[in-house]
Amino acid sequence: MVGYEGAERYLPADRSLQALRSAARGCRGCDLYRDATQTVFGAGPSTAHVVLVGEVPGDREDVTGRPFVGPAGALLDRALDDAGIDRETVYVTNAVKHFRFSPADRGKRRIHMKPSRSQIVACHPWLVAELAVLAPAVVVCLGATAAQSLLGKDFRVREQRGLLLDGFAGELPGAPRVLATLHPSAVLRAPPEEREQAYAELVADLHVVAKAI
Ligand code: URA
Ligand code: SF4
Repeated sequence: MVGYEGAERYLPADRSLQALRSAARGCRGCDLYRDATQTVFGAGPSTAHVVLVGEVPGDREDVTGRPFVGPAGALLDRALDDAGIDRETVYVTNAVKHFRFSPADRGKRRIHMKPSRSQIVACHPWLVAELAVLAPAVVVCLGATAAQSLLGKDFRVREQRGLLLDGFAGELPGAPRVLATLHPSAVLRAPPEEREQAYAELVADLHVVAKAI
């Protein structure tokens, strides 16, 4: 496993969301900043009680600098709406903040790649810093990457999805509870005959969050 320096030394002394976002633009904690267009930091109100954590920005996010604005974002918006949660009231971010794509496709359509374990670890300080400032009531891990970043690498989303867990045991301000669910992209990628079921599971899990806040 390649070890990276990590994001820690790029964190600003001032821990406001604005200061974090601005400092994250210059992060070189792992190799992903080199080929990506820009850092895609979290977005949403600082008063949010819910923080949604995705995996890594995709092509649209890399271009616009905003999380979940592509096809997965559209599905997420619909699922939040169906669960009775207004996207404008939640804070949305990613476990890893630079787009990772397949070099073979550079110049053509850029194909999203899963971040490596060491990239997830390198970027983890940004996520923890965001959560420390926001002090949300609930953190939602969208898929395995977010869950493994926050709940450990042995966490299995399929086995524990939809449960409100005391994941941080008081380590973060407000001791948020953590719920893991499917990543919206997993719904999009599901075979057609399973897609409706996967979507319903995502909505049901988000409904648990809606009831908890
Ligand atoms: N998938 C993610 O995990 N995050 C985004 O921001 C977009 C797609
Ligand atoms: Fe820094 Fe995270 Fe980007 Fe790596 S992915 S350079 S750790 S912001």
